[in-house]
Amino acid sequence: MSNSPIGIFDSGIGGTSIWKEIHQLLPYEHTIYLADSKNAPYGPKGKEKITALSVKNVELLLNKGCKLIVVACNTATTNAIQHLRKHYQVPFIGIEPAIKPAALQTKSNTIGILATKGTLSSELFHKTSDLYTNNVNVIEQEGEGLVPLIENGEIDSPEMEKLLHEYLQPMLKANIDYLVLGCSHYPYLIPKLKTMLPEHITIIDSGVAVAKQTKAVLESLHLSNETTTKGICTFYTNGKPSVLNDILPNGLTAEVLDF
Ligand code: DGL
Repeated sequence: MSNSPIGIFDSGIGGTSIWKEIHQLLPYEHTIYLADSKNAPYGPKGKEKITALSVKNVELLLNKGCKLIVVACNTATTNAIQHLRKHYQVPFIGIEPAIKPAALQTKSNTIGILATKGTLSSELFHKTSDLYTNNVNVIEQEGEGLVPLIENGEIDSPEMEKLLHEYLQPMLKANIDYLVLGCSHYPYLIPKLKTMLPEHITIIDSGVAVAKQTKAVLESLHLSNETTTKGICTFYTNGKPSVLNDILPNGLTAEVLDF
């Protein structure tokens, strides 16, 4: 079992930002990544549909023998992880917007959160947000349209610039000093965001925390791969492989699979 792969899924290519952190921290682990790009974006779909898509991805990863599953998608985590944990025995790691560190460290007492509609409207997000942001002003912003542009490889397009400008304005006006990226696609926007934000604003995402949590859970369940040869990393997409291939490290390519 400890030799089995870690399964990771997202609505598309964004969760590779989480895979990169996991692979860096746990280089000997085998990983299988599913990019459900055919069904992206999940954000506007509603809880029932997002849960059904998550179940489909989990079933495939379990058929491939995964020992642990990382839901590398904030939208799927906040809408479906309770259902998944209830119906499957395998351990799940989810990803949620990093509100806690931002709320603890803000000096302007105002933080911004950029996430999908599905995440911002979920019960789980509100529970976490209420828990940590008691005296903090939280500017929530839906990143409508960002995921489809990233899925199309349009990170530097004028359309992206226009949307980001529109979404950042209310946050800048409110004087945020932390910007929480609440979607695993958005770390690919960090270079662009840095050119658009004043230097004193810190951008945070949850990638490193998810990787650390994955390591801790593997260790506590005695599921870590004890070998010291580099893990085999497999990527499946049901969309166009070219955009995924462009963001994968050299030597790794995605396989097309109908799921
Ligand atoms: N990467 C997903 C997330 O973290 C994107 C959701 C979507 O497909 O809208 O929320």
